[in-house]
Amino acid sequence: MTAQAKPRFNILNHTHKQTQIGQIESPNGPIPKLSDEFWTAKQRQLHSLHYAVSYRASFKPELPDFFIRKLTKPGDTVGDPFGGRGTTVLQAVILDRRGMGNDVNPLFERITYPKINPVSIEGVEERMESINLSKDRDLSGEEKMNMFYHPETYKELLNLRDYLKSNRDDIDRFLEMIAISRLHGHSTGFFSAYSFPQISIPKENQIKINKTRGVEPDYREVKTRIIKKARSVLKDGDERRISELGRKSVLTVQDARDLRTWKSNSVNLIVTSPPFLNQVDYFLDNWIEHWFCDIDISKLKERLVQTADLDEWMQFISDSLAEAYRVLVKGGMLAIEVGEVRYQGRILNLDETVVSLTWAKRFNAGQFKVKEVYIQSQEFTKLAHCFNVKNNTLGTNSNRIILMERI
Ligand SMILES: C[S@@+](CC[C@H](N)C(=O)[O-])C[C@H]1O[C@@H](n2cnc3c(N)ncnc32)[C@H](O)[C@@H]1O
Repeated sequence: MTAQAKPRFNILNHTHKQTQIGQIESPNGPIPKLSDEFWTAKQRQLHSLHYAVSYRASFKPELPDFFIRKLTKPGDTVGDPFGGRGTTVLQAVILDRRGMGNDVNPLFERITYPKINPVSIEGVEERMESINLSKDRDLSGEEKMNMFYHPETYKELLNLRDYLKSNRDDIDRFLEMIAISRLHGHSTGFFSAYSFPQISIPKENQIKINKTRGVEPDYREVKTRIIKKARSVLKDGDERRISELGRKSVLTVQDARDLRTWKSNSVNLIVTSPPFLNQVDYFLDNWIEHWFCDIDISKLKERLVQTADLDEWMQFISDSLAEAYRVLVKGGMLAIEVGEVRYQGRILNLDETVVSLTWAKRFNAGQFKVKEVYIQSQEFTKLAHCFNVKNNTLGTNSNRIILMERI
């Protein structure tokens, strides 16, 4: 048995002096708005597993790290009903907590399971050697993907996809997650021609990119790219300890408004980020991933909430909060991250909207007591303000986290 590599990832020391920059009035008294650089603005500071897959609208692992360490102890249960790429669950597991993760999109489970059940690089290499990716095949009946992939690359991808349909042990699932991360991007480490890493762009847009750059997709061997990426994702080690805790964690694919397999009074802390008011199109933006994983999005459409209607959004958040109330223990905490969005020609701070829900009679008043609102300010934000640059005032660049206690 080989000794486990010593973890090389950082344990962050979140030292900060928070500044109160305002307050939100509520019938239960003013709620302080605290601002600071609560966690580092530097990139890629935590375990390399976190950076396996790009996912639209994901938060930095430092965010759950901050709240998990502040509010729970080892052995506690930490949940995330809007799991995305599984950032909260993975950080909970890394910190010796039990993770409960959920998302309405099965892609969440495909990406998160392998991260909390990592395998060895030797296992990945051996498995990749044993799969025959060069089997000949007729591409005529397949989805037309020649704007993204060279025919040889596409053939290898289809062979891998077929293999993964009937081979599902932890190594296979890890390979699948790594393959998902390589489907489209801008460097030669990806399988596709030059494209966007975070979103799957429509075929027409990819055709335009190829035209502008004057290129056709070149051959990108699948096997070597998977092994190379797996090596970098596994470089921080600690696989055995992470997978032991990963096995105690639970991942589900259900609507956050109805987490029926989660027990009542079972979660100590939730750190989550729901879809913002009409910011991201989770169907379109992941269409290549859905294709590769054979996920039928027509069934998802009714449940995945993407709305530009404020009232509908508030009802959705309120219903999700009611379910969070049910699964949290009494005195348990909920950290919910939202942003600022453009709504009807103005900037709307969704933290204020969420706070208002907690005391509105129409929306289950009295289930939560809001403690404070955290606004993560970062160096680039401060700079942007000095130079009067608006990059941080129009999008959803700031993290606004409402911390509340389940009554
Ligand atoms: C802002 S993202 C979460 C990103 C996550 N915090 C991360 O770091 O990866 C919101 C997620 O909510 C999911 N979602 C949308 N509607 C949902 C619903 N009704 N129930 C559960 N999840 C839903 C989307 O699929 C998306 O992954």
